[in-house]
Amino acid sequence: MEFPVKTGAPASQKTACAILPVFEGRGLKGPTREVDLSCGGLLSQLLKSGDAAAKLGETLLLPRLQGTAAERALLVGCGKQAEFDAKRLRQALAAATHKLKAGSIKEATSYLAYSRPRGLDAYYAGRISVDAVRGALYRFDEFKTGSRMKSRLGKLAIAIGDRRDSKETRRGINDGRAIANGTDLARNLGNRPANVCTPSHLAREARALAKRYENVGVTVLGPEDMKRLGMGALLSVARGAEEPPRFIIVRYRGAGKSDAPVVLCGKGITFDTGGISLKPPQKLDEMKFDMCGAAGVLGTMDTIGELQPELNVIAIIPACENMPSGRATRPGDIVKSLSGQTIEILNTDAEGRLILADALTYARRFKPRYILDVATLTGACVVAVGHIYTGLFSSDEKLTRALLDAGKRSLDPAWHLPADEEYGNTLRSNFADVANVGGREAGASIAAQFLSRFVNEISWAHLDIAGSAWLSTKDKGATGRPVPLLSDFLLNL
Ligand code: BES
Ligand code: MN
Ligand code: ZN
Repeated sequence: MEFPVKTGAPASQKTACAILPVFEGRGLKGPTREVDLSCGGLLSQLLKSGDAAAKLGETLLLPRLQGTAAERALLVGCGKQAEFDAKRLRQALAAATHKLKAGSIKEATSYLAYSRPRGLDAYYAGRISVDAVRGALYRFDEFKTGSRMKSRLGKLAIAIGDRRDSKETRRGINDGRAIANGTDLARNLGNRPANVCTPSHLAREARALAKRYENVGVTVLGPEDMKRLGMGALLSVARGAEEPPRFIIVRYRGAGKSDAPVVLCGKGITFDTGGISLKPPQKLDEMKFDMCGAAGVLGTMDTIGELQPELNVIAIIPACENMPSGRATRPGDIVKSLSGQTIEILNTDAEGRLILADALTYARRFKPRYILDVATLTGACVVAVGHIYTGLFSSDEKLTRALLDAGKRSLDPAWHLPADEEYGNTLRSNFADVANVGGREAGASIAAQFLSRFVNEISWAHLDIAGSAWLSTKDKGATGRPVPLLSDFLLNL
C-alpha cells in the first residue's frame, strides 16, 4: 500500500475517489465546502435533504461531481467538528476504507486530515491516517481455501492543506507504515491456531525477523539449556506438554555497546488450558491468544528493525504450552526459579507469571535501562478496564508518564493501575518463598506484585494486555496491541 502526500485545491485534484469529511451542524466546511462551491452546491443539498449523514463513520459514495477533477466523491460523516480529533479521524478513515476496499477503485485521496483535526500535528496526521487504512485493510485468511478477493485499493493519497506540513506528514506516514507492518505481524502470530503457532514456530518467526535486518540477532534456548540455567519456573509450566518449550532472545543493536538496552519480555503461552487447574470450556479456543505478549514484542522488534532508531533493544520470549498430563505440575508443587526463589504453585492456571519470573530474572543480566513486560496475564484486568485499555503497572513515575503518553499519542491507550507492595501480602506461602496466587480481589495488581519480586531495583513496567490483545466479538481476532504504544515509546526515548 502506497501513501503519497498531496497538496493543492481539492476540486482540481485528479483522483479516482476524493474522500471528503462532513461535519454535523449547519453548512459545509473545509475541503468539502470548496468542492461544494465548485459543483454548484450539490453536496449542501444532499445534506439538507438528509440523504447524506454527518454521523461519525457514515458514508455516501457519489459519481463525478460537476466542476471537479475527482471521478467519485466519498462523503464520510465525522461527527461534530469541535470534537473531531485523532481518534475520530481514525474511525472515519477506517469507515471510508471499509467502504472502498470491496470495490474496484485502485486509488483514492483522503481529505479527512486536510484541515488538521484538533490537537493533531502534521506527523501524527500522517501516522494515524496510515494506521486507520492499514487497520481496515488487514485480513487473516491464511487458513481459508478457495479464491480470495484481494482488495484492489493500492494507493491512498493523504491530502494536506498546508504545503509546509509535507515533510512532517511524510515522516509520520513512514513511521506509520513500519508500525502497521509490526502490528500486522503481531496480529498474524496471534490469530494462528495453537497447532500451528507453537513455541518452535515463534522461534522460527524470530529467526526470520532477524534475517530481515543486519543489526538484529537471535538466540533460541531449548529445554536442556533451561535446565542447565535453572529455569525451574518456566520448565514447570512446560512439563505437561509434548511440545518442547523455547526461550527466544532477539537483539537489536542501534547504539554503542555501552548503551544500556531496553528489554521487552513477552508472555508466549501458545495455548493455556490452565493445566491441572483446568479451565472451563467456554471460549477456551481464545486461549490460543495467550502468546499475544510475545507477538506484540516481536511485532515491535520488526518496527524497530525497519526504522533503525539509535538505541539498543532486546526482546525476551519465554514460550511454551500449558497442558494437563501425567507429567504436568500439580497444585502444591514447589519449584526453584532462576532467581533462586522457591515458588509454591497453588494454581497451575497462574502460569504466565511463572514463565515471566524466569524471563525477568534473565533480563537483569543485560543491565537494562528499562524492563517492560507484556502479557495476557489476568482475567481480573479485563474485568477492571475491559478491552479499551491495556493495564499498566509500574513504580517508576517517569516511565509511567512516558508509556501513558505514548499510548495516548498512538491511540493504543493504557491505564495506570496500582501495584503497591501491600498487594503482595496474600502471596505468602507456608512452604516456599512465595505462592503463585494470592487473594481474590485486585487479581491484576497481585500478579504485578508477584512479577516485581523478580525485577528488584531496575526500572520496570508491566503491561497486562488480557483485554486489549484480542476481540471476541464478531470481528474476533488479534488486535496487534500494544505494538503502536511500544513503538511510539521507543521512538521517543
Ligand atoms: N491467560 C490467562 C489470563 C486470561 C484469562 C486472559 C482470560 C484473557 C482472558 C492467565 O494465564 C490466567 O489463567 N490467569 C488466571 C489467574 C488466576 C488463577 C489467579 C485468571 O486470571 O483467572
Ligand atoms: Mn492461565
Ligand atoms: Zn495464561
